[in-house]
Amino acid sequence: MTDRRQVLQAIAALGSVGLPLPGRAWGAPPALPDDPFRLGVASGYPTADSVVLWTRLAPQPLAPQGGMPPSRYAVHWEVATDAAMTHTVAHGTTSADPTWAHSVHVRVQGLQPQCDYWYRFTAAGHRSPAARTRTLPAQGAQVAALNLAVACCQNYEQGHYAAYRHIAADAPDLVLHLGDYIYEYGINPNALRQHNSAEIHTLDEYRARYALYKTDTSLQAAHAASPWMATWDDHEVANDYAGLTSPDHEDPAVFLARRTAAYRAYFEHMPLPPECAPRGHRMSIATQALCGDLASLCLLDQRQFRSHHPDTMLGAAQERWLTQRLQATRSRWTFLAQGTVVSHLLERRDGELRYGSDNWNAYPAARQRLIDTLQQSRVTNPVVLTGDVHAFIVGQVTVTPERPESTMVAAEFVATSISSGARPQRLMDEWQRDNANLRYCAGEKRGYLRLALRPDRLQVDLVALDDARDPQSGRYVLKSCIVEAGRPDIQIA
Ligand SMILES: [Fe+2]
Repeated sequence: MTDRRQVLQAIAALGSVGLPLPGRAWGAPPALPDDPFRLGVASGYPTADSVVLWTRLAPQPLAPQGGMPPSRYAVHWEVATDAAMTHTVAHGTTSADPTWAHSVHVRVQGLQPQCDYWYRFTAAGHRSPAARTRTLPAQGAQVAALNLAVACCQNYEQGHYAAYRHIAADAPDLVLHLGDYIYEYGINPNALRQHNSAEIHTLDEYRARYALYKTDTSLQAAHAASPWMATWDDHEVANDYAGLTSPDHEDPAVFLARRTAAYRAYFEHMPLPPECAPRGHRMSIATQALCGDLASLCLLDQRQFRSHHPDTMLGAAQERWLTQRLQATRSRWTFLAQGTVVSHLLERRDGELRYGSDNWNAYPAARQRLIDTLQQSRVTNPVVLTGDVHAFIVGQVTVTPERPESTMVAAEFVATSISSGARPQRLMDEWQRDNANLRYCAGEKRGYLRLALRPDRLQVDLVALDDARDPQSGRYVLKSCIVEAGRPDIQIA
């Protein structure tokens, strides 16, 4: 015999992400007097025939629970082929559940490849603005061009998000975010604008921090202009953490609870596929996107499975997965997108040249295995896209760092921060002097990378802001780099 209570228990056990609302079994939830779409809408993880739609109901973003009653709400979504939403091609209803902070993650299927679509949500009598998204090219299709933006490191206190206004204006086919979407730190009273609490540790605190960041209208505009794919770095949890280890030597059980809360809040606030919902302290975010015959893009997780000792960055399972993906790829260009610098990088510490403790150079065996895999899998035109250092870096991943041209394995482009603090140019000049494989380093500019990919060449513009302290800042191309297909070289102009 199945009674209503058992059905409810069964539904609860399934986890409630994106579950269809079963009629009116719960009764009507309380009305929402204020607009619940104040965190914006987003899309992500496109394939040739699908895309994920995201929103989170939060009429008072910074209040506990985003100002939402502890009820489940029906959320209607629509997808159309025009910005006015007149030609609807898909629609449905899902639920926003308080156990997932009233976030919504829907994968819409049955779309056409390489097409623009617009989407919007309706909940409790409120309607969100319509936003644009785009599907990827069909597998194996000949693709003439692909435009990407690469962003990372957006400390809310240290700058405005003018870079995102420009990314929104570019409306690339895809935005890649390579980590530090939030910072966990407390309030600096002297900062340009302030965080909303002391350093964050609990689920409610991580949720409120994402809500603060997502109230920024420039960030919302970039989400509303293009689909995103994202990976995290350290600050989504805690500075320089590795796997289950906190660098501050927090009690392991306490840190595990913190990481569990942080991963859950990350899922709740990113346009991730429903199946990425975390299970306890684990969450699977590494993924591959295929863009016709032009590009394969592997997005790596170099935090969750990192060992404390210099052994692994990706963990054995992700390494095996990456090797299989690289061996199977037939794309003309192969991108690895992830958080920390892969290029050989010696830094001066107390007059001595040493490797930093947080990037791939601190994990020499793992780094060597990555280089071996890139070489042995014979992928064509590998390019590494990186974040973390708050500087533009154009580097060559090499077998022998002293002979960069003759032993280059991949080009590496490091995106500077959207807003997070600068690195002194004096230090950047030192890095370049001490590392022949680094071709260009600029630490005092905020901005992003703009990639224009064609079958025969990749152009990477280092787009810099005039002043990240100004929300209306202009932008300019600091340097423009060209990688020609089949040539192990980077031209910088
Ligand atoms: Fe950062």
